[in-house]
Amino acid sequence: MTATKGLEGIVAATSSISSIHDGVLAYRGINIDDLAERASFEETAYLLWYGKLPTQTQLAFLQQQLSDFAAIPEPLLAQLKLFPSDANTMAVLRTAVSALALYDENANDISRESNQIKAIKLQAQIPTIIAAFARIREGKEPLAPLKNVSIAHNFLYMMTGEEPDVVAVKALDQALVLHADHELNASTFSARVTIATLSDIYSGITAAIGTLKGPLHGGANEAVMKMLSEIGSLDNVEPYILNKIANREKIMGFGHRVYKNGDPRAKHLQKMSRQLGLLKGDSTLFEMSARIEELVTGQKGLRPNVDFYSASVYTMLGIPSDLFTPIFAISRLSGWSAHILEQLDDNRIIRPRAEYTGLINQKYIPIDLR
Ligand code: ACO
Repeated sequence: MTATKGLEGIVAATSSISSIHDGVLAYRGINIDDLAERASFEETAYLLWYGKLPTQTQLAFLQQQLSDFAAIPEPLLAQLKLFPSDANTMAVLRTAVSALALYDENANDISRESNQIKAIKLQAQIPTIIAAFARIREGKEPLAPLKNVSIAHNFLYMMTGEEPDVVAVKALDQALVLHADHELNASTFSARVTIATLSDIYSGITAAIGTLKGPLHGGANEAVMKMLSEIGSLDNVEPYILNKIANREKIMGFGHRVYKNGDPRAKHLQKMSRQLGLLKGDSTLFEMSARIEELVTGQKGLRPNVDFYSASVYTMLGIPSDLFTPIFAISRLSGWSAHILEQLDDNRIIRPRAEYTGLINQKYIPIDLR
């Protein structure tokens, strides 16, 4: 038995949710480029869950369910108020999603019908949790979700207390579409491994959130913003990046296990970043990002991934950098839960082997002789 480090190239599941072929990402066979330009996040989530685009009536029903489920249980809101105000936002989200199970009498029902409803519930509640904590830590009261608005709209409203502008809602909605699913990425794999033991959806999503948190995965978007802040100005991009390259340090937001010729999601976020810069009359973050890309691609042959331009986009939308990865989770919840449903439709426990590299034939030495 020989191990493949990082499971590179290992096909570990069959799936009909999303595919990556020749650098093209498709959800249920529809090119992500098409969805990013034309679909709403709610339509995309429906597509991932039910396998086809919704009709007007189906979409309206889903929007109604999302509205109805968006409030979070009062005891959970009370708990959020007890968390340290400087808590890591992904740790807060991970803990809060785990706690949601305690207030759902159907938490342990793993039938498709029950899990489908819980997926919609989680999709509605996760934005409320994140926005509530964002306000609580600033000493503000959390806001009740609005009725009959999109998830992007509701999230921006619940975070700021102001009606968001149309451009911001559209940009966030598009970002949510782009992050919704991505084949067997690390956090989705975690969700599938967890649910494959016949555990519950809350456990699967909690595991996925913990996996997304890491800076090699979803946490990279926050790390990109940290880097942009450290760089500070367009003039400082070149010395900073060349120094990182010379020291063989990782440059966050670049590289990808699957895409070697560019992440198809990155170009949409790059365009969004350019447009938001123009609209705001301050393109500094976009220009710095574009210069970083030029240097890293030129010198290392590495291309930006989905996390790179999302950092400047979210910052220009007025979102604090430690909410970037939680926003990724809002979107990826749709993919995680679709994979959980799919895994349970044809389940077998996921239990690979390890290549043993330790000592053999050792004798037990009694403690007084060691
Ligand atoms: N900066 C510098 N060097 C890099 C980077 C980077 N961002 N990414 C890859 N490399 C280097 C590797 O060190 C390796 O060099 P070596 O051969 O000299 O050891 C070489 O490029 C090849 O790396 P891969 O084998 O392709 O990397 P792997 O598939 O194991 O990891 C990963 C992929 C984790 C995304 C990696 O590219 C990385 O750490 N990027 C930065 C973090 C990041 O942006 N993560 C978000 C990914 S997208 C997502 O999860 C949503």
